[in-house]
Amino acid sequence: MKIQAIKGMNDIVAPESRLWQMVESKAREVCRNWGYEEVRTPIVESTALFHRGVGEGTDIVEKEMYTFEDRNGDSLSLRPEGTAGVVRACVEHGWTIQNSILKLFYIGAMYRHEKPQKGRYRQFHQFGIELFGPTSSRADAEVIALGWEFLKQVGVKGLELRMSTLASESCRKPYLQKLTKILKDNIERVPQDFRPRIETNPLRIFDHKSEEAKALAAELPRLMDSLDEESAQHFEGVKRHLTDMGIPFVIDPNVVRGLDYYVHTAFEYVSSELGRTQNAVGGGGRYDGLVELMGGRPTPAVGFGIGLERVLMLLSEKSEVVRPDLFVAIPESENAEVQQKSEEFGFKLAVKVRSEGHYVEVDLDGRSMKGQMKRAVKLNSRFVLIVGENEVQSGKVVLKDMDNQSQVEVPMSQILDILSEKL
Ligand code: HAM
Repeated sequence: MKIQAIKGMNDIVAPESRLWQMVESKAREVCRNWGYEEVRTPIVESTALFHRGVGEGTDIVEKEMYTFEDRNGDSLSLRPEGTAGVVRACVEHGWTIQNSILKLFYIGAMYRHEKPQKGRYRQFHQFGIELFGPTSSRADAEVIALGWEFLKQVGVKGLELRMSTLASESCRKPYLQKLTKILKDNIERVPQDFRPRIETNPLRIFDHKSEEAKALAAELPRLMDSLDEESAQHFEGVKRHLTDMGIPFVIDPNVVRGLDYYVHTAFEYVSSELGRTQNAVGGGGRYDGLVELMGGRPTPAVGFGIGLERVLMLLSEKSEVVRPDLFVAIPESENAEVQQKSEEFGFKLAVKVRSEGHYVEVDLDGRSMKGQMKRAVKLNSRFVLIVGENEVQSGKVVLKDMDNQSQVEVPMSQILDILSEKL
């Protein structure tokens, strides 16, 4: 029986892997320019980390984690997102020191046992940033702007920024009590699958996809209409800074996010091109309480995670095929000594030209001259260098310009100079 990849986990190969490289290097470049340093945390963590960090009542923790016992009997989980692990590392190593700023980014695989479909996988990749330290709304705006800039630069189509506030905890608490009561009083209108969430995560009624939930949500009081002064001011600040930076946004009270740790700003980058239900390219927000919840000193924080599979789906450009600068053709010779000489010359030259930063192909199959030329044409090589019997014996190799079909004979000793002139 053939062994197959796990459902919802994909192999990535060229030409798509070229686009991945482009997207990842753009993420790194943007982070460099905004002063974010890379952090790499393990893919496997203690299950308890996500229970505490992501939240017991979330879909991710309740239904979607890959959890297993290792050989010591410890409960471990594949990370379903990046924030909890980064916060764990910060607390463990004492990276977040009061009154200082720490700016981190990561790119890596995440795992959620969801129902696979277009844009939703069980192994997917996130580019995320986490900013620790500042309480100011400037920080929220910077984080949002960085993600926006990345998505723009990479060429994502149909992009829109949607934003809401989840308010401070003290402001949200009485609202949540009121919301829970209303939902309980109208239980017959609450979708069956949402009923267990009423106590644990009532806000998520606002992003429930069913029509009955949407109709109910339209009648419910909004958190945004009962903000205290601090929450309202913070949100105003974020809006103002984004406007100053020229970043367009839409206020959307339905952005409530699927993770427990958020306060104040919550946002999503969406694209109409992704369809109606699976339209978030990325999301994030402020999570001031999480570092302390993980055992660290109280440290405000804000960040985002962007799904790279979804970014790839939205790119308008396709990857360019890279063409070799040079194809070294070494046709077979009946004379073993000559054959050895051409191979020695050809391979040595290829290594040298590559070390100077050029893409060089060498025939690895010992094909006929015709076969090698065919391959050079297929690869669309810029030049072909023929190192055959005649060439080795005369001390001159043939350099073919494949774009204009001209060719020159070059003394073997001068080929490197000629090539560096031409390439
Ligand atoms: P999230 O909204 O759960 O947030 O995920 C962020 C993004 O990851 C989504 O918008 C989506 O593009 C992508 N994503 C999520 N699940 C899947 C999936 N099954 N298949 C493909 N793509 C997926 C977080 O993970 C937070 N840690 C973000 C954050 C960082 N908040 C603060 N800092």
